[in-house]
Amino acid sequence: MLNKKLEDAFNKQINAEFWSAYLYLSMSLNFENAGLSGIANWYKIQFQEEQAHAQIFMDYVNKRGGRVELQPIEAVPTKWESPLNAFEETLKHEKVVTSLINDLFALAEEVRDYASRDRLLWFVTEQVEEEDNANQIIEKLRLIGNDGMGLYMLDQELGSRTYTTPSPLASAE
Ligand code: FEO
Repeated sequence: MLNKKLEDAFNKQINAEFWSAYLYLSMSLNFENAGLSGIANWYKIQFQEEQAHAQIFMDYVNKRGGRVELQPIEAVPTKWESPLNAFEETLKHEKVVTSLINDLFALAEEVRDYASRDRLLWFVTEQVEEEDNANQIIEKLRLIGNDGMGLYMLDQELGSRTYTTPSPLASAE
């Protein structure tokens, strides 16, 4: 049985993951409209990944006999002035998510729920990837500056990103 404090915190995190999904879907639509379909593709996959993160948490809460309570998802921004601005916002957001995961991890330790701590460890590692991915694209965009050809090539590159089911879900298939 899940500790009540931890159950509430997992429910908040499920909502945060869905908010992230909604944010990245909004970014994807924004760049589709701007004619940058590769960046739109990158964000669409990010949208799928965030839904998978929520699913991992929901499966876990259920498995532990807890109760998932879905809350309303708050509105997200709908416009970004440039790809650089969007990826900077992405990195900023992922840093917030990292701190939420770290808080959950600390809570699992506090209530001596080591199974939850174990589950959260996957997310700790995932957040390193999430921040690194955004950071690498920011660095490329800074190099590109106002070079249209550079942006065109980066858009092509990001268009090749494909979705892979995260391992906690893949192993449950
Ligand atoms: Fe669910 Fe982008 O972390």
